[in-house]
Amino acid sequence: MVKEIAVAIDGPAAAGKSTVAKQVAKELGYTYIDTGAMYRSITFAALESKADLNNEEKLLDVLHQMDLEMNEKLQVFINGRDVTNEIRSEEVSRNVSKVASYASIRKEMVRRQQLMAKKRGVVMDGRDIGTHVIPDAEVKIFMIASADERAKRRHKENKEKGFPSDFNQLKKEIEERDRLDMEREVSPLKKGDDAIELDTTSLSIREVVEEIMQIIKRYKG
Ligand code: CDP
Ligand code: CDP
Repeated sequence: MVKEIAVAIDGPAAAGKSTVAKQVAKELGYTYIDTGAMYRSITFAALESKADLNNEEKLLDVLHQMDLEMNEKLQVFINGRDVTNEIRSEEVSRNVSKVASYASIRKEMVRRQQLMAKKRGVVMDGRDIGTHVIPDAEVKIFMIASADERAKRRHKENKEKGFPSDFNQLKKEIEERDRLDMEREVSPLKKGDDAIELDTTSLSIREVVEEIMQIIKRYKG
């Protein structure tokens, strides 16, 4: 049997990482792991319990008390409750980068993610996958697109889902989140030297998937 590998996909908000990662995982018969959903889940739980987001210790308590489950249908459950839609709310998006900036929170998340990636056969997306979570991933992609294009994509998606969406506000939120993610001290968002950069600004989802499948085929030889 051909050896299974790990594919790490990183990049800024709304670059198309999860959409593409899901399809690549499907084509390979691999497991897709959305690490952003993990940071969104703890942020949602913290906001709901009215925890002080400036209090790292309190947030770590929230994380330890949280039974987080993500299934194959990409549904997310906190202590048995389906929060798949709730973790995508604007309020969570506005606060997630702050929660994700704490060293102790990241340490615990990375520990869980590394356990999931241990057996290989995974496509994992996030901000620090190739640089910290799976530094020995066989294929590393850094996916980018212009901020305008990313905001357009998310805006279209929101409208299709019937969510309220203001383009200018959305673009500002995306840019602010990228700034916080790039400037944080612990494992910031940045392209690793060994990652392949893929600018998807003018590419369709299918084209991006095909490009990554080609990169994987080249690796496998
Ligand atoms: O899908 P979207 O680009 O909106 O974001 P996401 O992938 O759901 O990630 C939400 C936030 O979680 C990011 O803006 C980061 O602050 C944080 N995150 C992180 O710090 N490290 C990861 N590996 C994944 C997400
Ligand atoms: O995971 P990430 O935040 O990087 O982005 P996403 O949630 O996968 O993609 C954001 C939106 O862009 C989705 O609605 C995708 O369908 C869309 N998209 C696109 O229009 N063209 C691409 N090449 C990739 C994604």
